[in-house]
Amino acid sequence: MSQVLRDARRYEEEHEKQIAPSDRPGFHLCARVGWMNDPNGFSYHDGQYHMFYQYHPYDSHWGPMHWGHAVSQDLLHWKYLPAAMAPDQFYDRDGCFSGSALTLDDGRQLLMYTGVIRSTDSLGRTHDIQSQCIAFGDGTDYRKYQGNPVITGKDLPEGGSPNDFRDPKIFRKEDGSYRALIADNYPGHGGMYLLYRSDDLVHWQLMHPLAENENRIGLMWECPDFFELDGTHILIGSAQDMLPKGFEYHNGNGTFWMAGDYDPETEKFTEKCNYAIDYGIDFYAPQTVLSPDGRRIMIGWMQNWDTCNLHTKSTPWFGSMSLPRELSFRSGILYQTPIRELDNLRTETVEYKDIRLTNNDLRLDQVCGRMADMEIELKAADPEKMYQRFAVRFAQNENYRTGVSFRPFESTLKIDRKFSGSRRAVINQRRALVNHQRGSLKLRLIIDRFSVEVFVNDGEKVLSMTIPTELSAEGISFYADGDVVMNVVFHKLSV
Ligand code: FRU
Repeated sequence: MSQVLRDARRYEEEHEKQIAPSDRPGFHLCARVGWMNDPNGFSYHDGQYHMFYQYHPYDSHWGPMHWGHAVSQDLLHWKYLPAAMAPDQFYDRDGCFSGSALTLDDGRQLLMYTGVIRSTDSLGRTHDIQSQCIAFGDGTDYRKYQGNPVITGKDLPEGGSPNDFRDPKIFRKEDGSYRALIADNYPGHGGMYLLYRSDDLVHWQLMHPLAENENRIGLMWECPDFFELDGTHILIGSAQDMLPKGFEYHNGNGTFWMAGDYDPETEKFTEKCNYAIDYGIDFYAPQTVLSPDGRRIMIGWMQNWDTCNLHTKSTPWFGSMSLPRELSFRSGILYQTPIRELDNLRTETVEYKDIRLTNNDLRLDQVCGRMADMEIELKAADPEKMYQRFAVRFAQNENYRTGVSFRPFESTLKIDRKFSGSRRAVINQRRALVNHQRGSLKLRLIIDRFSVEVFVNDGEKVLSMTIPTELSAEGISFYADGDVVMNVVFHKLSV
């Protein structure tokens, strides 16, 4: 083991103790210490889920990327394992960037990732050389392959960029051969996802681009994943530098999914539609895993590149994953629902039926706290008289509140953290279009101390957002501008 990895392992073991468990999210995975970004190597190996992550243990800001590591049986209770990889070789000396994992026939776990070499020119501009590397391990310790890198800029199609060539997602085909889907930039056209094949994991040939941006969704694309779901093929990706498209895509980095036709003979994918995966503020670089019982489960990084560097240096950890979400595809919609294991965290449940809200602010007995699963069904009290607005507020006290509000006339749902405690002039609100039948809407809010994920109409849309609010702000209240009737099922969650 290299000294760089040994140092990281010692550092994280010594410093994680400084973070009280109550100062971390309850059931969302966060950095063991320091900084976390993308999920990596999300897999089920040797009887448990493995989650690796982009990791800079020494600081709560991004830096030379290591791979952090945690394992779980239910994707909600996590156990940290020692950091899996550090930037310690000539080909990854400036970072072990994102990648994926696969279990091999001989029981070993394979990690495939991007090695980064960064240089600075005379004008101070940085240039990366990014190439794909592999490592083999037993689920705790990994040895990088001595012939790394296994895919380099030489393996790119003409016009491809070795400076933005990263995030391999590896698959195994039924015939035993391997595929890697890798993000690249085609300057002037934006990102593309390139498909490579191999028989032995070390020799790779370019096949073709599986999808190309052609300047439609942002610029560079990152972190692809590709899978079959309920009879359709779904490609998921993350785009940098997007311009907004109505309520679909927003400015900055964001995620997208595409459904399309896949020809198993040619292995070509024809995209039929594309939509955002998450309509909130904090969600990026998701990866999926197939659970042993056949569920396609997705986890993303619950942060946003444009605002993640605004916290202070003294924060001992920064960055967490989203809730694991079960995916399904019905009637052209990619549904996301909280992983069903979450039900096991429910402790006390209170239920309120036919609560009338008329231009008033209401609190409900026992509905409060910062770890909760809350289902709300609302409708207009009089279908002939539409209400103007419904809002639920939480993480609330005399100083703070976070809001989710719905305006039936606009069909928009808004998440709002303007009053959640941020002192920065950043995006604090976002709206999404939602379906409703004359003001009837279903919301499910998963609150975990420093975040909320809002699942709309049984997972038709999701909006995720982190909040910096101090934990003493525990209040929850409901408000209607107009006349609303609602049902609330509130579960306190505990780990
Ligand atoms: C996405 C990303 C990846 C890269 C990693 C670096 O958030 O930019 O493309 O591998 O983060 O930390």
